[in-house]
Amino acid sequence: MDLRDSIDKNNIPKHIAIIMDGNGRWAKQHGEDRIFGHHEGVNSVREIVEACGEVGVKYLTLYAFSTENWNRPKEEVDALMELLVSTISLEAQNLHKKGVRMQVIGDTASLPASCQKELQESIDLTANNTTVTLILALSYSSKWEITEAVKKIAAQVEKGELKINEITSRLLDENMNTKDFPDPELMIRTSGENRISNFLLWQLAYAEFYFTEVLWPDFRKQEFYKAIISYQNRERRFGKTSEQISNN
Ligand code: FPP
Repeated sequence: MDLRDSIDKNNIPKHIAIIMDGNGRWAKQHGEDRIFGHHEGVNSVREIVEACGEVGVKYLTLYAFSTENWNRPKEEVDALMELLVSTISLEAQNLHKKGVRMQVIGDTASLPASCQKELQESIDLTANNTTVTLILALSYSSKWEITEAVKKIAAQVEKGELKINEITSRLLDENMNTKDFPDPELMIRTSGENRISNFLLWQLAYAEFYFTEVLWPDFRKQEFYKAIISYQNRERRFGKTSEQISNN
């Protein structure tokens, strides 16, 4: 049975964020090195982007490389950067044909120049697409993003351009890397780890979390649909009571 048929088309999350975890363990289970797992993970990325287009998810954020990932062994960091550059350059045309718009969040200035160049080219190429917005979180961490936002706001206060009582939650939204995207309604993490790992701490305030034991390279369309169905079976209360929600 295709789980896609069980999805309620009227209650599709607009934005899904994913912590793609378990590439290393998947590779180990298959007797391969960690890099092989990351390569296999790219096939899952391709399928999930396609699935978003098929069911109508408009924004997909993928945690592809965290600020903390810079601390991995040099050969793994180099291989991941190379994989990112080659994947983006190989997939850009294909994404473009499917109507995918590429965006990036994170401290991109810290990425190798070749990676920045490929990213910028695919962002420019796909800028007018509207089917799905694929947001890659690269050299990203939420504490970094929030700190940067606070610095920008503090600088405005220091210059006398902003009063302290004009600092609102919306102003913080507007100073985040994600200012052009709605907050995710659903956050998925694969590989059995039940942590948020410095990912979109501000933006996930009201998101539903879905944790699965499945390792990222095995997380394909049917697993993605399972997560959407689980989301659709939950009651989102935003601090209200169950009765208030059903009376609305
Ligand atoms: C986590 O698995 C995965 C990563 C740190 C990298 C994710 C990158 C990709 C899937 C490939 C590139 C993606 C794009 C968007 C082009 P892990 O290494 O932490 O696995 P482990 O916890 O089993 O060791």
